[in-house]
Amino acid sequence: MINEKILVFGGSFDPPHKYHANILKKAAKTVKPNKIIIVPTYISPFKNEHCADYVHRKEMIKIIIKKNKIKAYIDDFEYKRGKKTYTYQLAKYLKRKYKKSEFYFLLGSDSYNSLEKWKRYEEIKRIFKFAVAVREGHEIKKTIVENAIILKGRFKNLSSTEIRNRLFCGDYSLIDKEIKKYILKKGLYFSNIIREIKKLQTQKRFKHSLCVTKLALELSRIYKSDTAKTALASLLHDATKDMELEKQLELIKKSDIKVKKISSVIKDFPEILHQWSAAAYSKTKFNITDKEILSAVKKHTTGEKNMSLLDKIIYVSDMAAEDRNFKEAGIIKELAKKDINEAYEKAKKIKENFVKMKKQKLYE
Ligand SMILES: [Fe+2]
Ligand SMILES: [Fe+2]
Repeated sequence: MINEKILVFGGSFDPPHKYHANILKKAAKTVKPNKIIIVPTYISPFKNEHCADYVHRKEMIKIIIKKNKIKAYIDDFEYKRGKKTYTYQLAKYLKRKYKKSEFYFLLGSDSYNSLEKWKRYEEIKRIFKFAVAVREGHEIKKTIVENAIILKGRFKNLSSTEIRNRLFCGDYSLIDKEIKKYILKKGLYFSNIIREIKKLQTQKRFKHSLCVTKLALELSRIYKSDTAKTALASLLHDATKDMELEKQLELIKKSDIKVKKISSVIKDFPEILHQWSAAAYSKTKFNITDKEILSAVKKHTTGEKNMSLLDKIIYVSDMAAEDRNFKEAGIIKELAKKDINEAYEKAKKIKENFVKMKKQKLYE
């Protein structure tokens, strides 16, 4: 005897957004469950992508469901396991916990179409029925499961990566107002860093920092550099550029950042000191000790012989961001999307020629 219907919804919710609320509301209306259980996935802290801590993801889900008047219970099963959990494991856990229930597992059409490839799919199918939200412009394979409920309508899905990348550039247009408030209050998705650099920079420079971050993340996606490191290096690269020289020197002194030929830099190239002081600032203010991030910040103006992928991405993005209005910027930007190494070489040449044209010395 089945005594209740349970709608199950899993996901990383990093952050939760409109699509989650929309499909959950629709599924609740269609399936008419007695209970809704949301199971946020565990995300390894070593994952190559930035994410908000579990407590914050959970709080944000609570905000979203409250706002949409959805009565749901959040189950910490996957988080408590502390490792990757397959859907069959979740299914077995729920079946043990709610013995006489019927389960509807809510998922998008992309996932639904690949169901047969899921680990122990046969077991999943024995426990879960499916409620499928079809993404806009997407079709579903009708042959997979006989007992699936296809939710009426088409749903616009937003990619969480895209949302996060926008958040890293200070763009909150894709998320709910109250989620934005929470993110800013808790300083999530580097909003704490954005807030601090804004205080240090002129308006123009602040805009530039966000533009550089935008392009760097675009390149990061093409070349698969670490998203969080790319965002941090680009946000912080000019953090101290509007700071007085003395203050910059103080920051450098406090950290153990080494500046090659520092007296010559102070005398002949004061405008490049900020690449070291920004690294020093990143270290002292935000405790950033990651060598790749610091390296990219430290080399973004002068470049160096051995440039890593991230070093090049930041160097090139700095020159070709959309706030740069000289014609070479556009050329570098297009080239960067095809070949980052060539783009870097070309960007470096352009900078050198510019210095020569102004009859300035070149720091080497
Ligand atoms: Fe700079
Ligand atoms: Fe810059």
